[in-house]
Amino acid sequence: MTDLISAPDIPWPWAFPGRQDRIHYFPRTGSTMDDARRLADRGCPHMTVVIAGVQTKGRGRMDRTWASDDGGLYFTMVIKPEGVVRPAEAVKFNFMASLALAETIREECRVDARVKWPNDLMVEGRKLSGMLSEMEAPDGVIDYVNIGIGLNVNNDPPAIDPPPVSLRSLTGRSFSRIRILGLFLDRFEALLQNRPDFAAVMTGWKKYAGSLNREVTIVTLRETLHGFAEDVDGQGALVLRLADGTRRTVCCGDCFYG
Ligand code: BTN
Repeated sequence: MTDLISAPDIPWPWAFPGRQDRIHYFPRTGSTMDDARRLADRGCPHMTVVIAGVQTKGRGRMDRTWASDDGGLYFTMVIKPEGVVRPAEAVKFNFMASLALAETIREECRVDARVKWPNDLMVEGRKLSGMLSEMEAPDGVIDYVNIGIGLNVNNDPPAIDPPPVSLRSLTGRSFSRIRILGLFLDRFEALLQNRPDFAAVMTGWKKYAGSLNREVTIVTLRETLHGFAEDVDGQGALVLRLADGTRRTVCCGDCFYG
């Protein structure tokens, strides 16, 4: 399939049958997280998706920037849960999204994509994709959760340490970002509609987990911890066994192998 994201003269939202009215594409924008927040605050529908060709202010987790050159896939989904969903439950959507992305990439691109806590995708121990989520929950009830994903597809990821990978650098082939995104959105939405509980999501996620049952180093904004990653608990926190045998749960941070 032609990579329509590279061809702005084509009415490309029509490449997503059934989603046309909820797809917003910007050839160049600051951050799809900011665009999605603006749309969500104006009452856009559930599963509105903002896609960027290039981001000039791409944001990563823990106050980092996310390099967003042409060739990568950069998008944010606006999720509006039905009924009363508490902020503590939002983490389930992140794990659902990383599970759906891992399955999409494994099937479509035939690479051994593994999930790394909390929500990165790794191949051969190198980062392929990252995820950022933000939510709005006035009065303790979620109004929306925005999940932003950056996937290295046909771009050259930045030369940082440890060096990331792209689908092209792994396989020597180029991939249609439109096709990957369409397959991912269908898979993610089907998972959402099944309304699995957190345990069921984690059973699926753990099948592809590369960051459990191994030594890891966790870097949070306050400290660095080294230990054995035993599990992810019911709140999505990493359960770490430290060298002195004590257990620590870590709710957010960066995870490095070794
Ligand atoms: C990370 O691993 O640090 C998370 C990276 C998330 C990047 C995506 S790209 C689409 C969306 N827009 C942003 O500015 N960030 C997210």
